[in-house]
Amino acid sequence: MDMKENSLLVSPSILASDFSDPVSALEKISQSGADYVHLDVMDGMFVPNITFGPKYIGDLRKRTDLVFDTHLMIMEPERYIRQFAEAGSDIITVHQEATRHLHRCLAMIKEEGKEAGVAINPATPVEEIVPVLDMVDYVLVMSVDPGFGGQKFIRYSSRKIGQLDSIRRREGYQYLINVDGGINENTVHIVAKAGVDMVVTGSAFFSSPDPAAFVENLLETAGGAL
Ligand code: DX5
Ligand code: ZN
Repeated sequence: MDMKENSLLVSPSILASDFSDPVSALEKISQSGADYVHLDVMDGMFVPNITFGPKYIGDLRKRTDLVFDTHLMIMEPERYIRQFAEAGSDIITVHQEATRHLHRCLAMIKEEGKEAGVAINPATPVEEIVPVLDMVDYVLVMSVDPGFGGQKFIRYSSRKIGQLDSIRRREGYQYLINVDGGINENTVHIVAKAGVDMVVTGSAFFSSPDPAAFVENLLETAGGAL
């Protein structure tokens, strides 16, 4: 993999969409030119909000070929990895803060033949995940405290993106750096400059009257920041 590809990957989160009409949300995402859909799974314990589980993801799987980027905001995610894999997730991301067995959890995802991601909350330092960086495909830097869409981007997260970029260059690791929370046309340049490869976008994407133009604008702004 080229360490720093020019083009940013965009993963719209359906959290900000109308849950009574997911098919329209998926169509909006494919028409925007994005290749991924970010699926925010919340359990009301790890985060103070509840969304959906594997059945919902399995049902969505029948409706689209988009890459399923499943973000598990649930305690002890090892209990459900197989179910989320079988539901059709392509990438499964677990939080460092949610499990006592992070290495085992990531190994389980790989054993299911899926891409593995590790996420860290805004207050978790990069040092906490250094021991697993050689085995992950994605690192998800939370730039808001997880639980809700529409929150303000936390600027310190760009320092963590920079750190992760330096570590992978130094060690020759292959992971992509993803960022989640408060990403829009005004914040994307900050994370692009820091070395991010992929951005999640929820409320900014779904509130945009023209999602294709929105994605194009994100890509241009990110490209201009390099
Ligand atoms: C927050 C979720 C995010 C959320 C992002 O807990 O993990 O994926 O959908 O939404 P915005 O882009 O509105 O911050
Ligand atoms: Zn998310």
